[in-house]
Amino acid sequence: MTPTKNISLKPFHSFGCDVNATYFTTIKSSHEIELAIDWCKKNDKPFLVLGSGTNMLFTKQVEALVLKMEIKGIQKTNETASEVYLSVGAGENWHHFVSYCVHKGWGGVENLSLIPGTVGAAPIQNIGAYGVEVKETIETITAYDTIANKWVSLNKLDSDFGYRNSLFKREKNRFIITKVDFCLQKQPKLRTDYGAIREVLHQKKIQNPSLEDVSNAIVFIRTQKLPDPKMLGNAGSFFKNPTVSINQFELLKNKYENIMAFPISDTEYKLAAGWLIEHSGWKGVKKGNIGCYEKQALVIVNYGNGTGQEILDFSAEIIQSVFQKFEVVLEREVNVI
Ligand code: EPU
Repeated sequence: MTPTKNISLKPFHSFGCDVNATYFTTIKSSHEIELAIDWCKKNDKPFLVLGSGTNMLFTKQVEALVLKMEIKGIQKTNETASEVYLSVGAGENWHHFVSYCVHKGWGGVENLSLIPGTVGAAPIQNIGAYGVEVKETIETITAYDTIANKWVSLNKLDSDFGYRNSLFKREKNRFIITKVDFCLQKQPKLRTDYGAIREVLHQKKIQNPSLEDVSNAIVFIRTQKLPDPKMLGNAGSFFKNPTVSINQFELLKNKYENIMAFPISDTEYKLAAGWLIEHSGWKGVKKGNIGCYEKQALVIVNYGNGTGQEILDFSAEIIQSVFQKFEVVLEREVNVI
């Protein structure tokens, strides 16, 4: 294996910042992972796995071997009267996989339509949208454990999924995911309870929606609210929705009666970070090349040649001002490198 040296990562991530990787190679098979890890060990270099780079913020030269995951393929491995089991290569485009399932009439991932990224990246931060998280459909994950130097097959419990979190995110750079196995439903129960979905279906006068109707409604909602990374550099939600105790929520609610939040347990609430950022005055604010998106304050956009450091600094200002106003600490959802 001979990696390419000093390659610009600009075309390989959705913020479009011009940073170089010291070493770069594409990965098209499991065997190529073993070769790449071997190369890293022999040359004493770290590695960094890249899917389609839609959740990455590169703030400086990446002094590592970048492994651009391109393992493809969607295979049916089993089927029952009610379920279908699929094994999917980590390098498949996520929305392509969702569209494939919707087209076949297999339910479970339709609410995750149009989420940018690859199948292999989906479990890492347990992608979620419109009341569904990817963990619900995942059966097993095949990965190379670079600490134990062996292939592992991890199930849902092993993967320890949480809100935008998993074992793979906590133990950063330990596992290289090559394949994700899903279980989908042949007679799916559609999840249309999220307000925005109901509204779109109502507007379109759809009373008994199909999988395709739900997927189309979500594509419609997302394209209205979220910028297309091909047109405007961004990484979707830049921050996580913060969790606060019920006491802190009640104090906030007394002061800001319209605050957007929902209970997640008997003792905790999740606050809408977009609302906090908007009500700290940031929505639509532009500073140089960087801005807070005018239609969804949770998204930071790169209007041109902004650097990763400028984006990081801009996000730090948002964190500080949300803290000053609400005493709530926002955590970044993107991977800062
Ligand atoms: N809100 C505002 N101002 C804003 C943005 C949102 O007041 O600028 C309020 C909205 O009115 C709404 C609430 O915040 O009542 C929630 O907004 P929205 O439904 O847009 O969802 P979100 O919590 O901002 C999360 C995910 C998104 C996902 C949507 C839909 C996180 C960090 N983000 O956003 O995921 O698409 O729910 O389910 O959990 C992503 O992770 O990249 C992503 C886009």
